[in-house]
Amino acid sequence: MARRRIIAGNWKMNKTPSEAVALCNELKDLVKNDAVDVVYCVPAIDICPVAEAVKGTNVHVGAENFYIEDKGAFTGEISAPMLKEAGVEYIIIGHSERRDIFGENDVLINQKVKKAFASGLTPILCCGESLALRKADTYKEWIKRQITWDLDGVTADQVKKLVIAYEPIWAIGTGETATADQAEEVCGLIRNLIAELYDQATADEVRIQYGGSMNAGNAAELLSKPNIDGGLIGGASLKPDFGKIVNA
Ligand code: PGA
Repeated sequence: MARRRIIAGNWKMNKTPSEAVALCNELKDLVKNDAVDVVYCVPAIDICPVAEAVKGTNVHVGAENFYIEDKGAFTGEISAPMLKEAGVEYIIIGHSERRDIFGENDVLINQKVKKAFASGLTPILCCGESLALRKADTYKEWIKRQITWDLDGVTADQVKKLVIAYEPIWAIGTGETATADQAEEVCGLIRNLIAELYDQATADEVRIQYGGSMNAGNAAELLSKPNIDGGLIGGASLKPDFGKIVNA
């Protein structure tokens, strides 16, 4: 079955509100493509101005983080209903920077996936191995364990709408991209795992992205692979290059 391509920018902790609007305007014509879902995942403070700036375009708004409760005494956090009302449709969950720098574990990540679905947000669930695990050749088991934990209790109907991003940590922000064959190997493995955990129809529908130093030069080859349905792009999402990736 044909899965719709999804190209998402992960702006990380970049762009003040005025810079965010300027970037939306700069990219506006470059990211036009009716055959692709284009998403900007932006810092919380940029969500409202970005939602306004992309109104009437093909760009969808995503967030980079949220907490599992709707409201209450959770200083510094932002909730799913807040994101929804501001126009957010996608939410990055389990990014390696959240896992490694902010100590998010698979129990919380699993709660976030379930909460996102319950709130009508589409998770972009990230997984990926460190360089040490890649060198030790234990990365496949690691990825399978992450996905299995993170999807505990998530239904097949939900997984059909899920986006999974395979992001080898050694390729994030390093300029070192996984080769298209390395990326395809793991994305295919993830799809087979979904078939095992759920069924083939679910595996055929789930969209799997590659992320890690994807850029205008390597996107076309990565995206030509049968199990790679899109990209989660950090550094190159902040530049006109992002338009080239959308149209690769
Ligand atoms: P990068 O980041 O494209 O800058 O490597 C990707 C990501 O962390 O999502």
